[in-house]
Amino acid sequence: MQVDELLKPFPIKEFHPFPRALMGPGAHELIGPEAIKLGFTKPLVMTSGLRGTNVVQKIVDSLKYHGLEAVVYDKVESNPKDYNVMDAVALYQQNKCDSFISIGGGSSHDACKGARISVAHDGRNVNDFEGFNKSENPSNPPHIAVSTTAGTGSETSWAYVITDTTTDPDNPHKYVAFDDASVATLAIDDPVLYFDCPVDYTAQCGFDVLAHASEPYVSRLNFEPSLGNAIRAIKLTAENLREAVWNGQDLKGREGMMYAQYIAAQAFNSGGLGIIHSISHAVSAFYDTHHGLNNAIALPRVWAFNMPAQYGRFADIAEAMGVDTHGMTKPQAADAALAAAIRLLRDVGIPENFVSVTQDTYSKNRLGQGPTKYYENAKVIKGDDADVDRITNHVLGDACTPGNAKECTFETVRPVVDHCMTGDLDDLLS
Ligand SMILES: [Fe+2]
Repeated sequence: MQVDELLKPFPIKEFHPFPRALMGPGAHELIGPEAIKLGFTKPLVMTSGLRGTNVVQKIVDSLKYHGLEAVVYDKVESNPKDYNVMDAVALYQQNKCDSFISIGGGSSHDACKGARISVAHDGRNVNDFEGFNKSENPSNPPHIAVSTTAGTGSETSWAYVITDTTTDPDNPHKYVAFDDASVATLAIDDPVLYFDCPVDYTAQCGFDVLAHASEPYVSRLNFEPSLGNAIRAIKLTAENLREAVWNGQDLKGREGMMYAQYIAAQAFNSGGLGIIHSISHAVSAFYDTHHGLNNAIALPRVWAFNMPAQYGRFADIAEAMGVDTHGMTKPQAADAALAAAIRLLRDVGIPENFVSVTQDTYSKNRLGQGPTKYYENAKVIKGDDADVDRITNHVLGDACTPGNAKECTFETVRPVVDHCMTGDLDDLLS
């Protein structure tokens, strides 16, 4: 019997590995020495470029100072595309590199994880590895993942998310690959590197953290080793996100969010996700919008949808978010958790629904390189019936959907998606 078959009839759950990590202010100074310790001589640095900051140049200069010959691929796009991964693989092979360093948020780390898997299979297309543990070769080049945002957790997780551009352009596909072989060798989380993260990205990434933490906390997987990290990450986010957004040069808020993102990812790594992420992946696939922004808009609607299945867990979330739940019933406390999330969303300036995200106001790629080639004619989000239908269908096929607190069907999920598109958040509070 295969492991996958055993997991169904028996209550066996799997704890996926984490890499070693160095955390705290100043940790990025250790990238060079750690790379040498790991045997790197010629790393491929993968990044979106982080233009407008000197973060990449500073790290590359430091690598050179330590005698490493760094080759740079700085064209990773937001919602990394399969062609970003394959261009990086070609550069790696042409330059006979021996290792990887990713610098950035989830896009840079995810593209890098996909590139390592491809390199380990003689440059096979990254899209061949969509799914669960599809890698056939468990050994691939070593990887140091350096985070410059507090959201993704990709530096410590076994997941990477890629947009497949070989599919029908009218029906693009963004998928999650979960692969133990993709786990980085070393994670570096230095809150000092977050200081350059703009206000809107900081807010959006913060809601990725809240999604990473809350989804396993209410998931049907109900994985005990994840619950402590999940609830702690919710508490840290509630306590630190406003400060990280509005006082971004202050270490306390940035450091609080650094730990929140790290342990939230460790919670979902084995504890599962849900349809906040599935909706987010679908909207990114169609409109190339930021993952954290999508999560933020989806989160209150999905919490409201899941709440009847998990009033007790949502009551815990209320407490973690600072609500005094004494004297409240579980459903009342769950409602208070939802109100606290909406308050946080509004406090950090997240748009209330997807049709409010317009090309005029959305600053995606501020740190990147402008419109991407696959989405250069990206449409404004319409939120009409056809949009809601195609997003709902994408959600139902997403690898995160089976972990959702409530079982999902087209009929039950469609109204949730519809509300994300055009609905009023105040409706959820009444
Ligand atoms: Fe996420």
